[in-house]
Amino acid sequence: MEIIIPDETTAIAELAADAVCALIDRKPDAVIGLATGSSPLPLYAELIRRYKAGEVSFSRATAFTLDEYVGLPKDHPEAYANVIRNEFTDHVDFADGAVHYLDGLAPDLAAQCVTYEEEIARAGGVDLQILGIGTSGHIAFNEPSSSFASRTRVKSLMPQTRQDNARFFDGDLDQVPVYCLTQGLGTIMEARHVVLIAYGQGKADAVRRLVEGPVSSMCPASILQHHPHVSILVDGEAGGELEHRDYYRSAWKNKPQWQGL
Ligand code: F6R
Repeated sequence: MEIIIPDETTAIAELAADAVCALIDRKPDAVIGLATGSSPLPLYAELIRRYKAGEVSFSRATAFTLDEYVGLPKDHPEAYANVIRNEFTDHVDFADGAVHYLDGLAPDLAAQCVTYEEEIARAGGVDLQILGIGTSGHIAFNEPSSSFASRTRVKSLMPQTRQDNARFFDGDLDQVPVYCLTQGLGTIMEARHVVLIAYGQGKADAVRRLVEGPVSSMCPASILQHHPHVSILVDGEAGGELEHRDYYRSAWKNKPQWQGL
């Protein structure tokens, strides 16, 4: 696990974009896992900028989103499929049908989760998975007590997560769905490279438990300690409770930068 705490916050989006672009460069038909939420937005903005500057093309790439609310109307602006389209995929050149979404209105949610796993497998698995982290320690919507072996399935959101996400629903908790579809921890652990992004003091405790806490289903993100290739990109505030933050900073500073993430 590599923990990177750049001095400049903008460097987080740039480093993550470098990793995505380097992947596409060596494997134009790469499979990218896309997170929603606020944390990846600067990365998506940077990727759109690079695409418009002719520096990267997603025309042969495939993408899979991580999760989706259950029951939001198809045109709801906070349905994750719409958020991903509006914030990223509609602004670059993915081919039609190359971006895969979970459907929170599917008549048979469980069957759809099985199909989604099959689609990921058929695509050859995820090369690079972008993640945020919830204050509950969740990745995707795998809340505390999620099995480390879990696959894509229906989950209930914790009150804490619904409260955190009420900001996207005019601050109205009642509008935040209770149920969601989410890739499982077992699914995420099969991605070949995981890039997790966190900003702000509100994430400091979750980031500390992810990196330095015991591996426990009470902090689902801590399973990433068992993944062979994880890059944790955090700003000074999100990394502020890491006991060994000085070590992580010096290790990154002394790493030959051409190695990338
Ligand atoms: C979203 C997702 C969630 C978020 C997490 C952090 O697809 O999988 O795990 O990454 O809730 O959300 P933000 O980035 O809004 O703080």
